[in-house]
Amino acid sequence: MPPQPTDQETATAIPPDNRSPGRGIAIICHSVHHGNTMQIAKSMAEEFSAQGWTVELLDIEEAAAADLSQYAMVGLGSGIYFGRHHPEILKLAETINPPPQVVFLFSTAGLPFLKLLQHGALRRRIKRRSILIMGEHCCRGWDTVGPLWLMGGINRQHPNATDLAKTRTFAHTLSQQLKEKSG
Ligand SMILES: Cc1cc2nc3c(=O)[nH]c(=O)nc-3n(C[C@H](O)[C@H](O)[C@H](O)COP(=O)(O)O)c2cc1C
Repeated sequence: MPPQPTDQETATAIPPDNRSPGRGIAIICHSVHHGNTMQIAKSMAEEFSAQGWTVELLDIEEAAAADLSQYAMVGLGSGIYFGRHHPEILKLAETINPPPQVVFLFSTAGLPFLKLLQHGALRRRIKRRSILIMGEHCCRGWDTVGPLWLMGGINRQHPNATDLAKTRTFAHTLSQQLKEKSG
C-alpha cells in the first residue's frame, strides 16, 4: 500500500490563496423591523465596490456557514432593539469560528445619539475575542415600536439621502484605512 499523507502534508497541500485573508469585504446584516439597516448595508456595499473591493452581503445563516477569517474586513450590523444589536448578531459575534481579523460595527436606531452605549454589547463581545474594530456607524431609522406606532413612529423616512451619503462617507474612510493597513 502506498504511504498515506500525514495531516501536516494534507494541510500544506491546500493552495495558499484559499487560506490567506484579503479576498474582500463581507457585510453581515440582520434587518427585521422596517429594513432600515439593510438600506445602509447596501449603501456601504456600493461604496466599497466603487473603491474596488469585492463585497458580499451575507445573512446570519450564510455568515455562520462562511469562513470569515478569509475576508480583509467584516461588517456586523442590525437595528438596535432594547438598547443592543439583535440577539442573532450578538450570538454570531460570540460563536463565529474562525473569527474575522478586522470588523466594523453598524446599526440604525430610533435614538442614534446613544450609539456608544447601544453598540456596547456587541463591542464587548468582539473585544473579548481580540478582534480589531476598524470603526462604528449608526444612523437614524424609522421606528414604530410600541405606542410610537399610533403617531406614525419617529424618524419617518429615515434613513434618508443625507443619512445614506454619511454612510457612504463612513465606508469610504474605512476603505482608505484598510488599504493603508494592508500596505
Ligand atoms: C422591538 C424594538 C425595540 C427597539 N428598541 C430600541 C432601542 O432600545 N433604542 C433605539 O435607539 N431604537 C430602538 N428601536 C428602533 C430600531 O432600532 C429602529 O427602528 C431600527 O432602524 C430598526 O432597524 P431595522 O429596520 O433594520 O430592523 C427598537 C425597535 C423595535 C422594533
